[in-house]
Amino acid sequence: MGTQKRIGILTSGGDCAGLNAVIRAAVRHAVGTYGWEVVGIREATQGLMSAPPKTITFDLGNVDSLLVMGGTVLGTTNKGNPFAFPMPDGSVKDRTEEIIAGYRSLNLDALIGIGGDGSLAILRKICQQGGINLVGIPKTIDNDVGATELSIGFDTAMNIATEALDRLHFTAASHNRVMVLEVMGRDAGHIALAAGIAGGADIILIPEIPYHIDVICDTIRRRQARGKHFCLVMVSEAVRTQQGESVTLSQQGEDRYGGIGKYIAEEIAQHTGAETRVTVLGHIQRGGIPSPFDRLLGTMFGVAAVDLIAQEKYDQMVAWRNRQVIHVPIAEAIQTYQTVDLEGSFVKTAKALGICLGDQ
Ligand code: F6P
Repeated sequence: MGTQKRIGILTSGGDCAGLNAVIRAAVRHAVGTYGWEVVGIREATQGLMSAPPKTITFDLGNVDSLLVMGGTVLGTTNKGNPFAFPMPDGSVKDRTEEIIAGYRSLNLDALIGIGGDGSLAILRKICQQGGINLVGIPKTIDNDVGATELSIGFDTAMNIATEALDRLHFTAASHNRVMVLEVMGRDAGHIALAAGIAGGADIILIPEIPYHIDVICDTIRRRQARGKHFCLVMVSEAVRTQQGESVTLSQQGEDRYGGIGKYIAEEIAQHTGAETRVTVLGHIQRGGIPSPFDRLLGTMFGVAAVDLIAQEKYDQMVAWRNRQVIHVPIAEAIQTYQTVDLEGSFVKTAKALGICLGDQ
């Protein structure tokens, strides 16, 4: 059984489906198997900045219904880097010592941090500064965390994007339209490529592959010549304009990716005369019930993270490789941003099917 421990758990960065499955599994294993205490820290590092810290005490009774629940019961934030935290008076402040003090006030032996590459990098720096024992769990619909083949949330997002394409297919065919679907993914095209192949897209544009608008329009014309007057175009949000500019939307003073779907649709309409429509899937990809695989991966990751703490193996992240949960140094996971492998099976398969990736 090992020594009695009291551990903390927090979710940081953008939410995704499967986070609650991780929390449930970690609590069941830590409390049920090891007899430890588990403290949930609310709103990521911001919960630790409050005095007293914002927490939930978990037990076997209050995690029962979490398996299928979307979002995170702990709350999260993807704003406000604690090393340069925006204060109400417009100044920025390093608030990391407040976070460390908050953590210490909870008398914890270790912390499970569930986050993407950005959150894990920040958490690791704070934990090194404060001598905090950290174990990381990768989550993000973007699937861009290094050293793991999969992060929690990607599978659900891919399923939702595939379903969206399935739905667009029939209305596109009924009206002979070019349907453009813009999906999330930040600077990695994993969602667009995987869901594009699964949903039968004719054209898939990802940030890793620069496109030529003529290639896209020729694909549409060739389909028209074969009597196919509709077309499904999947576009990842960080694809750039022909001039190489990112397309962003300013929301409450912050720029977020958004709008490349509209740009591509307008270019297609202008060059081919086709009738185009745009769907921006947005946060639908993040919300909702986790897919069975995300529940499974989240559950396996939650259990493995608790076992790492039992073995006192810290500064490690659980990861998925070759159908196994393994662990890697967090440093290794955050040093490479995982983009689409241009020589990998997804790209090869798309090309073999004749899906246009914009380049040829
Ligand atoms: O990193 C996850 C993600 O959903 C990206 O795909 C997207 O660009 C971004 O977060 C959206 O962030 P927000 O929730 O702040 O709008």
